Amino acid sequence: MISKKKCAHTLKAATIVLMIVTFLSFLENKFGGKRVAVAIPSTLTEEETFEELIRRDEERLVPGLGAGGEPAELGGRDKQYGEASEKKYAMNVFLSNKIPYNRTLNDHRNPACQRVVYDAELPSVSVIVVFHNEPYSVVVRTLWSILTTTRRSNPWFKQANYINSKTGKPMTLGYPGQSPDSEFVYLKEIILVDDNSTLAELKGKLSHYIRTRLPPGIVKVLRLPERIGLTRARTAGARHATSDVLVFLDAHCEGVTDWLRPMLQRLKDKPATALTPIIDVIDQKTFAIHSNYRFDEVRLLCWI
Ligand SMILES: *[C@@H]1O[C@H](CO)[C@@H](O)[C@H](O)[C@H]1NC(C)=O
Ligand SMILES: *[C@@H]1O[C@H](CO)[C@@H](O)[C@H](O)[C@H]1NC(C)=O
Repeated sequence: MISKKKCAHTLKAATIVLMIVTFLSFLENKFGGKRVAVAIPSTLTEEETFEELIRRDEERLVPGLGAGGEPAELGGRDKQYGEASEKKYAMNVFLSNKIPYNRTLNDHRNPACQRVVYDAELPSVSVIVVFHNEPYSVVVRTLWSILTTTRRSNPWFKQANYINSKTGKPMTLGYPGQSPDSEFVYLKEIILVDDNSTLAELKGKLSHYIRTRLPPGIVKVLRLPERIGLTRARTAGARHATSDVLVFLDAHCEGVTDWLRPMLQRLKDKPATALTPIIDVIDQKTFAIHSNYRFDEVRLLCWI
């Protein structure tokens, strides 16, 4: 049994704790320590609302965080928020929301891969990415990664075999008929298939992001009217593809250095082929890249 006096004491202690907590959260709100949801003005149109939400996302990005595929760490409160989101989504979505969408990865390949010379002319590619309620920032980073790794300006595209060894004819860098001035090499389109997601972020906001932040005409979004599952969703995407080669990628992937050409060369040499590369792992806690390569796997990695 607790005496009355002791009880009053406990209550007082509880009140003080409550006051301190209230004061702390007041400070947090005032000085922006906590993520306070500031209401979006209701006068904005739908498109303006998406723009505002995306702008806020962009403010949250931390330049250089997770660059190169190095482990990204957060401190203090953010670390706790990150751990909580990892429990909920099986990956640290809170951290993902802070890692720049366009981060590039270090070259994790076996050094021997750098010496392989591929044909300049290789088949055209449609990358098909299916998602169902995937975290928004992870999907956006996948899109960026496909684009940044297939940009013509990448240094690894400089090294190529420009003479067809069979015909002796000169080749240009790209798929047959591709303009040498095109921004991307081999990549013709990305077909993003929404397998009937229910998360609001993946709807109008994602479409708005693609329209306003990514190069025009390259990403096509296909929204399925009902959930049909990964395999059928991939087939649905494939029906819309216009390229020689279909690449099926999950919506939580990032391309390593020169990831596409080794596969394209193989497919060019043996067109009726399906193949899969070695797939490195992105750490769900820190978004670091864990490279799987071993020396005896060099043949697989480089397709030599
Ligand atoms: C990523 O985008 C930001 C903002 O547009 C830009 O400042 C930065 O240079 C880009 N980084 C890379 C690696 O392209
Ligand atoms: C998802 O599927 C349901 C029917 O199964 C449909 O009513 C709804 O419009 C679909 N949502 C989207 C965004 O495609």
